[in-house]
Amino acid sequence: MNESGCIVLIGFMGAGKTTVGRILARRLGWRFLDFDEEIERRARATIPEIFSAVGEHGFRALEEELTGELSSVRRAVVAPGGGWAARPGAFDSLPPGSITIWLRTPPEIAVQRALASGVQRPLLEGEDPLERARALLRVREPMYARADHIVDTGGKDPERVAEEIFRHITT
Ligand code: S3P
Repeated sequence: MNESGCIVLIGFMGAGKTTVGRILARRLGWRFLDFDEEIERRARATIPEIFSAVGEHGFRALEEELTGELSSVRRAVVAPGGGWAARPGAFDSLPPGSITIWLRTPPEIAVQRALASGVQRPLLEGEDPLERARALLRVREPMYARADHIVDTGGKDPERVAEEIFRHITT
């Protein structure tokens, strides 16, 4: 494992990026950087408040700003929001030696988890969150699939997912 890069967990809302990322960072003794938390801290507003104030476009600009700072981040587990990896060129901003992991989750499970988490996801709001998730995934999956490793998370607890990632990056 290259200690000069980052481990970046990508995947859809409800994939477990934040929960798994925290466990993995603790295990590695690395820093954990959650994009949404950092954006909320800097904006002094929640993600839904940001979406309603400046729209998805404004939110993506904040995400972009943080992405620009990634190249100097070392020894960190990074969990960007589910839309981050879908932006063309997202992986190009990572420090050399970084490893990307797609936490792959079936939309049914992702939506169930996302709704149960108590964290509001503006992009899943409306009549049929599952249909929204499927539509977003159709577009995003080819980008997620560019990750270095894929770990299926459906039906697994976060400790087990973190353990599988640990094995991928240390063997
Ligand atoms: C988004 C995912 C969310 C958050 C925002 C937009 C997306 O993060 O960044 O609501 O576009 O998929 P999580 O993936 O952590 O839920």
